[in-house]
Parts: sequence; C-alpha cells; structure tokens
Amino acid sequence: MQNQFNWPLWHWHFEVSSICTLKCPRCPRTEIPESLVQTQLRLDFFEKNFTFANEIKKITFCGDDGDPIYAKDFIDIVKFFKHQNPDVNINIITNGSYKTPDWWKNLGNVLNENDQVHFSLDGWNQQSNEQYRVNCEWSSIISGIQSLRENTTAFLQWDAIVFKFNQHQIDNMKSMAKELGFDSFQLTRSTKFGSKYQHYNDNDTSDSLEPDEEFISSTHRFFREVFRFNSRIPNTKPAIIENIKYYNQVKEDSKNKNIIPLCLIGTKGIFVNSQGYLIPCCWVGNRYNHTGLSKFLIPENNITTQGIENVINAEHWNTFIEDFNTMTECKNKCSAHLVDEKYATTW
Ligand SMILES: C[S@@+](CC[C@H](N)C(=O)[O-])C[C@H]1O[C@@H](n2cnc3c(N)ncnc32)[C@H](O)[C@@H]1O
Ligand code: SF4
Ligand code: SF4
Repeated sequence: MQNQFNWPLWHWHFEVSSICTLKCPRCPRTEIPESLVQTQLRLDFFEKNFTFANEIKKITFCGDDGDPIYAKDFIDIVKFFKHQNPDVNINIITNGSYKTPDWWKNLGNVLNENDQVHFSLDGWNQQSNEQYRVNCEWSSIISGIQSLRENTTAFLQWDAIVFKFNQHQIDNMKSMAKELGFDSFQLTRSTKFGSKYQHYNDNDTSDSLEPDEEFISSTHRFFREVFRFNSRIPNTKPAIIENIKYYNQVKEDSKNKNIIPLCLIGTKGIFVNSQGYLIPCCWVGNRYNHTGLSKFLIPENNITTQGIENVINAEHWNTFIEDFNTMTECKNKCSAHLVDEKYATTW
C-alpha cells in the first residue's frame, strides 16, 4: 500500500463506538452533547480497509466519545485482527458495565498474553464508582472481570482516576484489584479540575471532584503511574521496536523545528473515529475544539467512502504537516522541549 507521508501504520487507535451507557460528567459526550454523533464501526469496514492487518503491531480500542464494548461487532473485529496477526498488541479501555459473563468469556477467548484490557474504575462499590462513573453497574463489572480472568491470558489492569471522593481509598482499590486477579493498577492524575480550568468549579471557588494538589497532573497531559502485582509483562517488543524506530526518524526530520509530532511516530495511534474519519491523533480528534476538528471532518478523510489508501495519501496532509507549528494542541502536546524518548513511547 502506498504511504507517501510515512504514516506510522504500526499503531492504530479505533473508536469503534461513540455509544456509551454511562454519563461521566467530564467526558466529552456529557460535556458537549450538542455535536455528539452516536454511531459505530462495523466488521466490514475493517475487512475492506485493513488488508495490511498482519503488519500492525498495536491496536488501541478506546475513543473520545464512547466505549468499545458497545459496538455490536466488537468481538468479531478483535477476532479479525488476532487472526491476521496473533502477536498484535490489543489494548481495550472500557468502563466494563452491562455485559454478561458469557460475553466476557467470548472476548477473553479471542485475546492472548500480548493483549491488555483496562477497566476504568474510580470507586470500590456501586455507590463510590457512580460518583464519577454515573449510571455504571457494579455487579456486571465484577462478574465480567471474574469471567474474563477465568477465560483469558490477557493482562488485566484496573485504571483509576484520582478524585476527592477516592483519594483516601487508593490502597483499598489496589487491594481489591489484586484480589480480583488484575495484573496491575494504574493511577491517573487528571487535569480536568477547577484549579486548572475555572469552568469545573461548582461555584466560583471550588470543584467538589478535585483531589489534593499532589493528585493533579502538573502538565497539559494526564500523568499515569502503573503498579504491577506480578512479574508478568505483555510482549510489546515488536511495537516498541517500531515506536523507537519512528521516534528516531521523526526526531531527525524535525531538527530545528519546535514540534516533534507524536502522530508521525505512532505513540498514540492514528485515530479513526466512529464515523470512519482518519484524524492524526485523539487529542485533535476530540470535540472540545470543534473548529480545529472540523478541518479533519472532510470527505477526503473518510475511510468509509474514500478507502484507506486514498485517505492516507491525500494531498492536504502536506499542508497539515507544515502547519503543526500553528496548532494550539500540537504546541501543547508535541512541543520539541517535551518530546524525548520516554514521552514518545508512553501512551
Ligand atoms: C472517553 S473514555 C473511552 C473509554 C471508556 N469509555 C472509558 O471510560 O474507559 C477515554 C478515557 O478517558 C478517561 N477519562 C474519563 N474522564 C476522565 C477525566 N475526568 N480525567 C481523565 N481521564 C478521564 C477514561 O477513563 C478513559 O481512559
Ligand atoms: S465510560 Fe468512558 S465514554 Fe462512557 S461516559 Fe464515561 S468516560 Fe465517557
Ligand atoms: S497534537 Fe498535533 S502534532 Fe501532536 S500528535 Fe496530535 S496532531 Fe500530531
């Protein structure tokens, strides 16, 4: 397949679904419901376009607006990629609610020790989890985790965001994660609080979700820390080799420039949203900056109608690549002074 801009085809981030049953208050689907399009990618989209699936090293199923487990064809889509390349690293990020143990068993059987499933859980029971994960269903989350643990060799990680209501329960959540058979526990220091963004304050001065300062990220990017419970580690070597190869190339090409674009390295994965648009990364793909995003939501970028080869080789990418320096998000996230090898290899 022609790839004239040398897109890092080794890592893809698919928003298979912009559908979700939850209403987390600081998720874009809740914060900006006006422009939300609820839809999903189907199996035939992948079969038609990802004919090079055997060359992909890493796939992230997360998204800006929804949850992957609510895509009708989700398990078949994962199966499609695992059949093409059993070594591919699949990473699934989910709230975990409302699926049956059988559904999790079927997913677990498709995954292997190269894969990871992350459960986004900010509480330790129904009442605490729903303080942020509004509308979650704790009973199905727990039965799902148990079924998945019994039926897969994939890595399971509990992902918690620190909020005021859970900052004193972190050790408790970690112990629960261990007991449930998770391999690791991730703590995220978010940026979405009143002290960083005034509009999160309930009144003029305080944000009821905001934790102590030490639990808030000090940069523009969420800060993540992982605690491992065992010595198992997923085999991510093929993906890391590609990641470092692209980092070195892009760093060299960006010499004397003030941006080292992670989207040309593959760090976060080339983003395909639930409508089939190819967008360089999920940071510029979210709907907070609709004017910025709208420049990507053009017919030439829609894989469903144009086919993937036409989209990745479209002439307008020339202008986009020259314009990194002018885009606020790129200056914030991919400024040359921030991007070293560690930054460029961290999701
Ligand atoms: C839109 S969600 C999509 C995946 C899935 N629905 C989930 O919530 O895990 C993408 C990521 O945003 C995270 N997220 C949601 N609210 C957040 C917040 N206030 N601060 C930091 N990350 C947040 C989720 O935990 C998840 O890792
Ligand atoms: S579970 Fe994920 S997609 Fe759903 S509302 Fe929460 S953050 Fe958004
Ligand atoms: S923020 Fe800009 S430069 Fe960085 S990965 Fe996204 S599109 Fe590329």
